[in-house]
Amino acid sequence: MDERLIESLSAAVAASPEDLPLRLHLAELLVGAGRGAEAIPHAATVLAREPDNENARDLMARAMTSHAESAPVDGESASIDDDSASTSADSGVFDWGAAESELGGSVPPMFVDGDTDGGGAPPPPAYDAERAGVRLADVGGLKDVKKRLEASFLAPLRNPELRRLYGKSLRGGLLLYGPPGCGKTFLAKAVAGELGASFIHVSLADILDMYIGQSERNVHELFETARSSAPCVLFLDELDAIGQKRSLSRNSGTRTTVNQLLTELDGVGSENEGVYVLAATNHPWDVDPALRRPGRLDRMLLVLPPDTEAREAILRTHLRDRPVERIDTRKLAKATDGFSGADLAHLAESASENALMDSVGTGRARMITMADFDAALAEVRPSIGPWMETARNVALYANASGEYDDLAKWLRKSRR
Ligand SMILES: Nc1ncnc2c1ncn2[C@@H]1O[C@H](COP(=O)(O)OP(=O)(O)O)[C@@H](O)[C@H]1O
Ligand SMILES: [Mg+2]
Repeated sequence: MDERLIESLSAAVAASPEDLPLRLHLAELLVGAGRGAEAIPHAATVLAREPDNENARDLMARAMTSHAESAPVDGESASIDDDSASTSADSGVFDWGAAESELGGSVPPMFVDGDTDGGGAPPPPAYDAERAGVRLADVGGLKDVKKRLEASFLAPLRNPELRRLYGKSLRGGLLLYGPPGCGKTFLAKAVAGELGASFIHVSLADILDMYIGQSERNVHELFETARSSAPCVLFLDELDAIGQKRSLSRNSGTRTTVNQLLTELDGVGSENEGVYVLAATNHPWDVDPALRRPGRLDRMLLVLPPDTEAREAILRTHLRDRPVERIDTRKLAKATDGFSGADLAHLAESASENALMDSVGTGRARMITMADFDAALAEVRPSIGPWMETARNVALYANASGEYDDLAKWLRKSRR
């Protein structure tokens, strides 16, 4: 009888995948029926959306325990030793690590910092996988970019059928490019949030600077961390740092870093199941061409400065939690042509500061008004000028292959 119920609930969940209570109900029944393994993905889906859902956490723990009990146990279980200094990592009540690796990429790990219950302290991970708390809806404006991200990246990943169909063409990653402060990092994080994946943000400049002499090993370790945190968005920021350094110097350490990176990237889509690589650069023209070959970071997506509508959305985002009064965001959006998202954040910051200073001066707290924004507008200048100069030259003189057509079109349209 339960079987029938489980069957129809499964169909209902498939029909409305966003109905989380329904999912939890199904997971509960599955655990009750001794089918913990099947309950795990449901609990994981709910946790990806609502990491603090107690009910889901509890279910996940029970699902994993029941799953582990029904699975063959290797070795006898050691007694619990509270003196963690002397215990080995696998002596706890339940070996989460083994369960996760056994489940492979099919289930997101519950915790990703490598800690194990009751075990000895593991070495601190060199790279931190975090849970991205933002979604695409939090990114102001950028309608076109979001649409293209959805079509070319998110939709196929969300849909297992499509994923199977496209198979190999989903290898490789996506390279976001555009002027600084226009939301590339923000978007990458939001993509992780959409996928319910963990997020690792690493700047190539940092890798090169920090690990002279051992960067090869560290690039490998980075991808290992990503694999063990799958599903995971691995975000390689400042990708141009590596290209520049490679051509500017004959530093062999840099070359091995590039080669290691190429090796790891070529594994994406096969052994890197569940690792999605996104990269970003302000200067794609400086990126090592080897990194952009097919199967690597072969798709480029231009992330432009926000248009009027987007600027209004961004301003509203930044004013959401501030004490504001009668702010005409429409007018502000019109007055900030050429501002990047970061410039707008700075503007809002500056206006708040104005009101705060004033309140401190008078001893009476007051709201942030349009007058504060007028003062801020006189100070904050758009920061993307220098980038525009370079971009214009690239579009004019270095676009023989048409890879910067998007950029050229936008530059023409905005007559910059
Ligand atoms: N579209 C946007 N919506 C909301 N805030 C934005 C947007 N673009 C940029 N910002 C703000 O500017 C900051 C810098 O953006 P970021 O993503 O780091 O830019 P980039 O990586 O392109 O240099 C963000 O932390 C955010 O506060
Ligand atoms: Mg960035």
